[in-house]
This record gives sequence, C-alpha cells and structure tokens, in this order.
Amino acid sequence: MPKNYMIGNWKMNQSLSDIEAFFSALNLENNQNNFWISPQSIHIPKCLELGVKAGVLIGAQNCSDQDQGAFTGEISPESLMELGAHFTLIGHSERRSHYKETDAFINKKVAKAIEKGLVPVLCIGETLEQREAGQTFDVVLTQIKADLEGISLNNESELIIAYEPVWAIGTGKTATPEQAAEVHDKIRALLQELYGDVGEEVSILYGGSVKPDNVKDLLGQTNINGGLVGGASLKADSFNKLCAACSL
Ligand code: PGA
Repeated sequence: MPKNYMIGNWKMNQSLSDIEAFFSALNLENNQNNFWISPQSIHIPKCLELGVKAGVLIGAQNCSDQDQGAFTGEISPESLMELGAHFTLIGHSERRSHYKETDAFINKKVAKAIEKGLVPVLCIGETLEQREAGQTFDVVLTQIKADLEGISLNNESELIIAYEPVWAIGTGKTATPEQAAEVHDKIRALLQELYGDVGEEVSILYGGSVKPDNVKDLLGQTNINGGLVGGASLKADSFNKLCAACSL
C-alpha cells in the first residue's frame, strides 16, 4: 500500500511569529514521518529547528536544476540537503504559470533533486479550459511522462506525485472525490507502466482546496494517498485535523 502523506505548502506566507505559533500548537498523532511542511526557503532553518521537535519534515517549494555557480536567486539542492531539508515541491502550477517553467526544465529539476537525495513532490494538473475541452487525462499524463523522462527509481520513497487541478487551487472549488479519483487511477496506471511494482507504491496526493471538511472523502478513494494543502495548512488547528484524517 502506498504511504499516506499530508504536506502543507505555505507558499509566500507566514511570518516568524506565525511559524512559532503554528509549531507550538501542533498536535500530531500517529506520526509516521508523513506530515511535511514547505515554508518559504528563508524560513527553512527556523522550521527545521521547530519541526524536528514536532516530528514534521521540512522541505522547499522549488529547487535549482544545477549543482552550484552563477545562478542568482536560485535555491541549491545541495544546500537544502546540507540544512536537513527532506523534500522539494517541483513544477507547482504557480511556478509553471507565473515563472514559465516548462516540462523540460521541471524534468531536469526532478532528476537533480533525486540525485542529491531530496524527494521531489512533482505537481501536475490541468487548467479549467483544458478540463472543459475534455483534455484532462491527456494533459496530466503528458506532463508526467515529460517530467519523468529518463528518470529511474530505486524505490517508491524517491518520488511523490501531486495531482492539483489548476482550477481548484486557492479557489475553494475542490474536485469531487470522483473527479479526483478518475485522474488518480490513470496516474497509477501510468506509474505502473513506467516503474512496474515500484509504480504501484509511489504515493499520489491530491491538492486544490483540501480542507478538514472534505479531506476524508478525498482520502477514501483508492488511489488518493494524501493531500498537498495550501490555505488550510497555515493554521495548526486545521493542519492537525488534516493529519488526523490522513492517519485513519
Ligand atoms: P490550496 O493550495 O489548498 O490553497 O488550494 C494547494 C496548492 O497550491 O498546493
């Protein structure tokens, strides 16, 4: 069975005092190192310090496809590892749309993250226009094939996939469990095709307006193995509830 994860994507939010308040109010039961937070990069050291005590693993929201050098403003995967970060989001739709990240570029980042020992949480998903044009499966599967081209896996813990329909991110419009499940089933089949038995065990998270009141129905679907959560991960009370649902 793939492992269930609850990952908070804080985006460009949370002050230092918000972070202190968040970790002091965390109350995680059944913690199996599967509750993760990705703060702004400059807050990673602070979150590592507080997260270790709370049993939360910390990661980045993006990382470079390069080792080191003249890449002003980039986040080095080596430095993330050196700090103690565990994972990095890659290819979030906000990076694809605002910063024009292409599948070819995302593919290089996924390869680099795995090479350095960070777990890439690869984000993919269709826009509303693409969904309405009946292109959802095609868009999502094409993204995954391109983003994982040439990438081999030794085991399932080296990769996480997050299906996030763009129209559901930050809009309050969650995909219904059925809408999400049909895409997750297709992703599972593709992962099996690409990685055989390992592909059966890679976790596939759903993201897009996940909240404490809809998380159980989503996680009740066979191939939904957790959530990647923005807004509802910012407050400890809500993140506690999401993590509790993830452990059921
Ligand atoms: P949301 O964001 O939960 O606020 O919709 C999810 C994400 O962007 O990862």
